[in-house]
Amino acid sequence: MPAQDAIGLLKADHRKVEELFEKYESARGRKADIAKQICMELIIHSMIEEEIFYPACRDAGADSDMMDEANVEHDGAKTLIAELENGSPDDEFYDAKVKVLSEEIKHHIKEEEKRGGIFTAARQGELDLDSLGEKLMARKQELKTQFEQQGLPTPVTLTMTAPPLEQRASA
Ligand SMILES: [Fe+2]
Ligand SMILES: [Fe+2]
Repeated sequence: MPAQDAIGLLKADHRKVEELFEKYESARGRKADIAKQICMELIIHSMIEEEIFYPACRDAGADSDMMDEANVEHDGAKTLIAELENGSPDDEFYDAKVKVLSEEIKHHIKEEEKRGGIFTAARQGELDLDSLGEKLMARKQELKTQFEQQGLPTPVTLTMTAPPLEQRASA
């Protein structure tokens, strides 16, 4: 596969996760597996954006309110991702959680891809999208290997001040 620039790579991730959400809806026996894939994709995607892409966009002059909202949207989705990781498709509300997560993600993707959105800001800034794409790909591979060996982590929020889910669950 030829190297992708940063935006090409992130958009390909978006299409992949949209496809997984669609698959989940019509899946019969493979729901747990698909939900796990969805969590894996979303955790890795949000981490590479948060660690590499979003800071580069901010440095390149992307509107800070827009970037702040994107960070909060990521963190909002993490609650549901953690729920899916810790539950099973037989649980009450599980399908509803997948559905609501898919709606949140759809909205978030639109915010990134729309005209005037984050990807537009990245294109207009002085970013080297090719080398950024290489960095994103390298980190993506590294995280994938790590999670395949050690299991998926609970997603870590960057903007929330409420106690982490685990603490609340055991309180
Ligand atoms: Fe994204
Ligand atoms: Fe994002």
